[in-house]
Order: sequence, then structure tokens, then C-alpha cells
Amino acid sequence: LSTTEVDLSPIAEGQIVTVQWRGKPIFIFNRAPKDVEAARAVPMSQLIDPQPDQDRVKSGHENFLVVVGICTHLGCVPLGHQGNYDGWFCPCHGSQYDSSGRVRVGPAPLNLPVPPYTFTSDTKIVIG
Ligand code: FES
Repeated sequence: LSTTEVDLSPIAEGQIVTVQWRGKPIFIFNRAPKDVEAARAVPMSQLIDPQPDQDRVKSGHENFLVVVGICTHLGCVPLGHQGNYDGWFCPCHGSQYDSSGRVRVGPAPLNLPVPPYTFTSDTKIVIG
């Protein structure tokens, strides 16, 4: 299937789930307000791959972060709720990503990419 439909309603606040889309892991993080605030408080000058949190989520659904779960260094799958930035830690070479999926500690050069997706209702998305 080229698209994946996901029901978000079982994902509790603070929880990260992994779904598959085109053979890739996709992380869906139902961010707590503190995670959103932390992501938005970071100055762009502190980011390796500067991108505002607002550009990585859908307006009206800012709590949900949807990213491809493949480290942009050499392709390992980062571990959620680990590292120092309320996001992910890559066990292969130590990269860290924040609560917006943005790289904060290298060697990864880029943020976790946001796949194409749309909300088809308040609690459903279609990826792809
Ligand atoms: Fe993630 Fe190298 S593959 S840090």
C-alpha cells in the first residue's frame, strides 16, 4: 500500500507509536504541551538543521509530530524518550533528536523528515 491510515485516538499524551509506511518506520508522538513549548522555545541559531516546529506539524494538531523514524546519519532507528531533548537517541553513533524530531546532537546532519500526511478527521491521518 502506498498510503497508511492511522487512528490516533489510542495514542495517549506523551506516547510515541511506530507505524509502517512504504516499509519505513514512522514515529507518531502525541506531544504533551511541555514538549511543544520546549520545541518552540529553541532559538533557530541553536539548531543544526534550522526549522521551526510550526513548519513540522499541522496547524490545529500541534500536539502530533509525525516523522520518518530513520536516523539521517546512517539509517539506524532511533529510540524514543531517550537522550537529553525529550525526543530520540540513536544508539548507533549517539545522535539526538528533540521533541520536534530535529537533530540536536550529531553526527546526524539533518532532522528526521516529515512524511506527506493529512488529517482526514480530528483523530485520523493518512500518510502518503
Ligand atoms: Fe544514527 Fe549514526 S546512524 S548516529
